[in-house]
Amino acid sequence: MSILKVAKLGHPVLREMAKPVVVDQILSSNIQRLIQDLVDTMREYGGVGLAAPQVHESLQIFTVEALGSSRADKAPETPLLVLINPVLTSVSDKVVEDWEGCLSIPDLRGLVPRHQDISVQAYDPRGKIVNLTASGFLARVIQHEHDHLIGKVFLDRMRTFESLAFLNEFNRYWQGNEE
Ligand code: NI
Repeated sequence: MSILKVAKLGHPVLREMAKPVVVDQILSSNIQRLIQDLVDTMREYGGVGLAAPQVHESLQIFTVEALGSSRADKAPETPLLVLINPVLTSVSDKVVEDWEGCLSIPDLRGLVPRHQDISVQAYDPRGKIVNLTASGFLARVIQHEHDHLIGKVFLDRMRTFESLAFLNEFNRYWQGNEE
């Protein structure tokens, strides 16, 4: 296993369109190692999601997980999910705002509107097609990570920067204010 370096905002890789993984390469040692390194790196830095472009690999893969001590900000328990070449569809018109942060944009939080309910078709790490639906927190994280595959970050999705806050100030002035 390896803990990989995380690209920070300003690195061009975060603004590229990530390439689809060739499906019959999913089981290759290179892709399997990248998936494991993504998982290890996400856990090391306490993220609830990590996309391959964030570790300088411009490929359509991301991981999501929120368990135990990594569950900051009241995140519900979310078992490990690895999605490859994901295609997202919103399945309701409902859009909700909640707080997001990003390992590539350290120490900032902001309110971001996202679709409440989505469906996803993707490949799993064994190369099988998976279909899933997600709501709320999980739908939010999946949309955030998917954005990394199309060169977007959460700042691009904010309606206004008035809620943009450093983590220290977020904890002091904003946490809980949305309720
Ligand atoms: Ni991010």
